[in-house]
Amino acid sequence: MLLAGYEGAGSLASYPAVLGSSGAGVVEELGSEVTEVRVGDRVVFDTRAYVNGDANSREGTWQQLVVCDAKTVAQIGDIAFEQAVLVDFPLQTAVAALHVFLGMGKPGTGNEEEKVLVWGAGGAVGSYAVQYAKSVGHSVVVTASPRDAERQKRLGAAEVFDYKDPEVVNRLRSLGPYKYLFTGSGDATSQKALVALLEGRGKFASVLGGDVELPSNVERMYVPFSQAAQKDEYHAWRDWWFKEYLPHVLQANVVEPVKFTKRDGGLAALQGASADVFGGKVRGKLVINPQE
Ligand SMILES: NC(=O)c1ccc[n+]([C@@H]2O[C@H](COP(=O)([O-])OP(=O)(O)OC[C@H]3O[C@@H](n4cnc5c(N)ncnc54)[C@H](OP(=O)(O)O)[C@@H]3O)[C@@H](O)[C@H]2O)c1
Repeated sequence: MLLAGYEGAGSLASYPAVLGSSGAGVVEELGSEVTEVRVGDRVVFDTRAYVNGDANSREGTWQQLVVCDAKTVAQIGDIAFEQAVLVDFPLQTAVAALHVFLGMGKPGTGNEEEKVLVWGAGGAVGSYAVQYAKSVGHSVVVTASPRDAERQKRLGAAEVFDYKDPEVVNRLRSLGPYKYLFTGSGDATSQKALVALLEGRGKFASVLGGDVELPSNVERMYVPFSQAAQKDEYHAWRDWWFKEYLPHVLQANVVEPVKFTKRDGGLAALQGASADVFGGKVRGKLVINPQE
């Protein structure tokens, strides 16, 4: 089971390559030194497809049998594959950005006096960022479209502002300062707004890069957050994510999963599904079963 999209594929150096970084399925075969999982286990996993350049460029999830490192596998018990994969990739992006790169604590360690701003909370990454920040214990202020306001409140937002409101930055400023600033849309408008709110000093995290001019004392944390767990320097984060936090989130229904549509047709449906995603024809996520 995989998510249609090509997140991070820009880093692929050569063709042909197999895209797709996250998937869910049943373990078929083990390497000789693997002890963490057994054949037949139901798991969600990430691949090395977008790291190490050419070396792993055929390890993506857009194929029927996928190779992955046992370090980046989580047990899912009887959770549906669709649900597991829809949580893993975007939630991991949000939590890596907030926890690993901005220094936010783990659930239950924060307090409401320390405010968090999530700009563009309407997407998968943004809405998981809201839920994670709330679970840490912070007070969360978001921007989203007005039709999404009710859901944002349910997810944990204390205040919801329309990101298209010309006065949005002033409204947000009146509720600040914010200890953690994150844009889940990553567009230039959002980055400029966060820069303005920082008033010349501090850092924010963004899901996208770009060429927004930054004051010398403002730092933008932009990396492929979804790939951080592949790097050994983040092994403590990786172990917590795959062995502890992700299985807990899935088993205990800790987050409200994003909406998805199942696209029939297996791998043959990928081309059309990708075109629809990039053509803006899809709201929410598309899920494809490569075994079909
Ligand atoms: N760096 C990384 O590791 C990483 C990892 C995953 C994703 N990403 C990137 O992060 C972005 C979001 O991914 P996603 O999976 O959350 O996408 P998504 O679920 O498809 O989010 C789309 C939603 O975001 C909102 N949105 C779109 N444009 C916006 C804007 N200009 N300002 C504010 N909100 C806007 C819209 O919601 P409303 O219409 O309700 O406002 C839209 O429905 C994508 O560009 C993706 O490529 C980066």
